[in-house]
Amino acid sequence: MDYKTQVAQSIKDAIGNDLSLDEIVEKIEVPKTLKMGDYAFPAFVLAKVMHKAPQLIASEIVKKVDQADYEKVEANGPYVNFFMDKKLVGKQIVGQVIEKQNHYGDLDLGHEGNVTIDMSSPNIAKPMSMGHLRSTVIGNSLAELLKKTNYQPIKINHLGDWGTQFGKLIEAYKLWGNEEEVKQDPINTLLKYYVRFHKEDQENPELDDEARAWFKKLEDGDEEATRLWKWFREESLKFFMKIYDRLGITFDSYNGEAFYNDKMQPVIDELKKKGLLEKSQGAEIVDLSKYDLNPALIQKSDGTSLYITRDLAAAIYRKNTYHFVQSLYVMGNEQSNHFHQLVAVLKEMGYDWADEMHHVAFGLITSGGKKLSTRRGNIILLEEVLDDAVKLAQEQIEEKNPTLTNKDEVANEVGVGAVVFHDLKNERLNQFDFDLQEVVRFEGETGPYVQYSHARAMSILRKAGMDEKTKIDVQGLADPAAWETIRLLGDFPDMIARAVEEYEPSVIAKYAIRLAKAFNKYYAHTKVLVDDDEKNDRLALVQSVAIVLKEALRLLGVKAPDEM
Ligand code: ARG
Repeated sequence: MDYKTQVAQSIKDAIGNDLSLDEIVEKIEVPKTLKMGDYAFPAFVLAKVMHKAPQLIASEIVKKVDQADYEKVEANGPYVNFFMDKKLVGKQIVGQVIEKQNHYGDLDLGHEGNVTIDMSSPNIAKPMSMGHLRSTVIGNSLAELLKKTNYQPIKINHLGDWGTQFGKLIEAYKLWGNEEEVKQDPINTLLKYYVRFHKEDQENPELDDEARAWFKKLEDGDEEATRLWKWFREESLKFFMKIYDRLGITFDSYNGEAFYNDKMQPVIDELKKKGLLEKSQGAEIVDLSKYDLNPALIQKSDGTSLYITRDLAAAIYRKNTYHFVQSLYVMGNEQSNHFHQLVAVLKEMGYDWADEMHHVAFGLITSGGKKLSTRRGNIILLEEVLDDAVKLAQEQIEEKNPTLTNKDEVANEVGVGAVVFHDLKNERLNQFDFDLQEVVRFEGETGPYVQYSHARAMSILRKAGMDEKTKIDVQGLADPAAWETIRLLGDFPDMIARAVEEYEPSVIAKYAIRLAKAFNKYYAHTKVLVDDDEKNDRLALVQSVAIVLKEALRLLGVKAPDEM
């Protein structure tokens, strides 16, 4: 049901051939306040062709429009304001939500096309950073949104399990390492070695040479290097899995950088054959000056590979394996140069599908205004953030609902959900500061607020002896107090389309906040459970809100407890 098109058709019927239906649709505005109606047509766009004053055109349109289709159509200066028939539209929208349940808003934009999503991709032997959290939750939400619009997402965790840093780590371990210590607390211990390495190599540059030599050995399959690498990788992965479990996020592939070890040589050969490789100070590069980019360094002078070499092999592997219609890379803003180089090299190789690769970039998370960095050791540990968030949620639940039976489970859903929601509420390119107290608040524009609104809707339904699935016969509500909520429910499919087109889960998070606010306002002014003719329709509205809030949260990867 497209109400804008309906309004455009009414205008078209009134004005004849001066504008096409599409042109009218494009001109129609949504007024800032409901007092000005639901849609407004700026009649001044016709002033030139009709040789009349806009005010006059507006009042002529009002006279010609079939008023029976609307609650009211009126001229307001040069605008024609359309007020929809609230009862009728309410019946249609709420009726649809209830009929389709959690499938309300499903669209077929993708025709089942595969979309690979390169996401999370933390680095072995380092803690998962807040940046990796962003990549994980944005990627996961995009996967849900893509599924909802009939694409087939393939979530790939491109683990950082190869590269010169492993040379550094092995060197550090050989110098200061202790097996017992690593076993007790792998990531923190390995991080400690790594940070120490970066401190000491300032004074001892020969440490870097040693590290390079270790990485070379690793790439050449040296037994000891391989054994240590495997061990570091396993320990790290165990730890990452714990975090993924807490977030409830799974992957379709854990093929990280090391997976492409035997797939890089063919790419280098192909580059050579296509005449794209050039020698520069002993290294092999691809010149990208025609793209206004620095040359891509493909192979170092000692023959070792680079991050981009592995990404080239990965991109080609993904195309051949998954035949993707789009290939997404959810990684920080700071990797944009890398990404452009990657695409440019593929284009040079003649791969036009590189145009279907998209960098879903995101901004930095800071803490107290400061940038976080593993090298310098100032990081926020993700596990601690989740633990603290759950603890804060627990305290609030204890205060607000001490008799709740499954407190621990709910606290977990609220605490973890709060962190995820907070991350997704920010437009992904924005930088934002992380303040836990703020994140876990039950009021304001937070995840817990949306969850709480959903739980409140569920509790109203419970009091009426209903739940989300009760089939309510909908007649529609004429009550103006319900209108904002109804209209927002009607917007949900558009929001989904927009979120997918812009790769922007924040569209859904912001929408969920608006819907929760509108619903709370409605609920504050209206007694839903009073026995009168409209009781059923009020309950239908409450039920629709519960369904759509829960579905919006699901698309963000956040749970919606029935009670909290
Ligand atoms: N491991 C990298 C990092 O932590 C991110 C990898 C992103 N994906 C890719 N295909 N390059 O910065």
